[in-house]
Amino acid sequence: MKAYKAAIFISGRGSNMEALLKAEKEGRIPNVEFSLVVADKENAKGLAKAKEYGKEGLYIDCSEYKSKLDGKAQDKVIEELKKRKIDLICLAGFMRMLKSKLIREYENRIINIHPSLLPEFPGLKAQKQAVEASVKVSGATVHFVDEGMDSGPIIAQRRVELAKGEDERSLSAKILKEEHKLYPEVLAKIGKGELKIGK
Ligand code: GRF
Repeated sequence: MKAYKAAIFISGRGSNMEALLKAEKEGRIPNVEFSLVVADKENAKGLAKAKEYGKEGLYIDCSEYKSKLDGKAQDKVIEELKKRKIDLICLAGFMRMLKSKLIREYENRIINIHPSLLPEFPGLKAQKQAVEASVKVSGATVHFVDEGMDSGPIIAQRRVELAKGEDERSLSAKILKEEHKLYPEVLAKIGKGELKIGK
């Protein structure tokens, strides 16, 4: 069975990244090695956390564009990933849209976790959108990344029920708890060959 070398992309606290690294450490994700954490923020809290897990952290200056990974930064990312023979990318709170060059380079090998039951509530503040829409159920989705906003093929979902008077904050906490289980489970499936990635 093929062993995957994976990179995790973050922008902030990196709690999903930590859930993945913890699962790897505990042997719950066979055949996947997380070997790099990429951040678009030099002071991303997750970078320090990655170090605690003995992982290489790499800050990439993406500031040429406000909300996408494009241009020189995209080229640099591709170069660094290739150098390390990375074959799988896990987005975990990475707050930039990916563009076609990287997506083509890693076709069906980039996955993301999103705090709603996609296709409902894509984009920012998904939990707030769910509360404002007064839905009874929301959740978390792991999906392949394409050039749209949280629009790629869905891999797995976990449902979370909204209690009466649920607010954005409490819903976010409930969903996050499920995200931390769901993301490592999906990676375990990839490692075991139960979920095919790539072309
Ligand atoms: C998570 O809710 C994830 O679904 C979304 O961004 C948030 C990242 O949180 N894409 P963290 O950095 O993993 O704690």
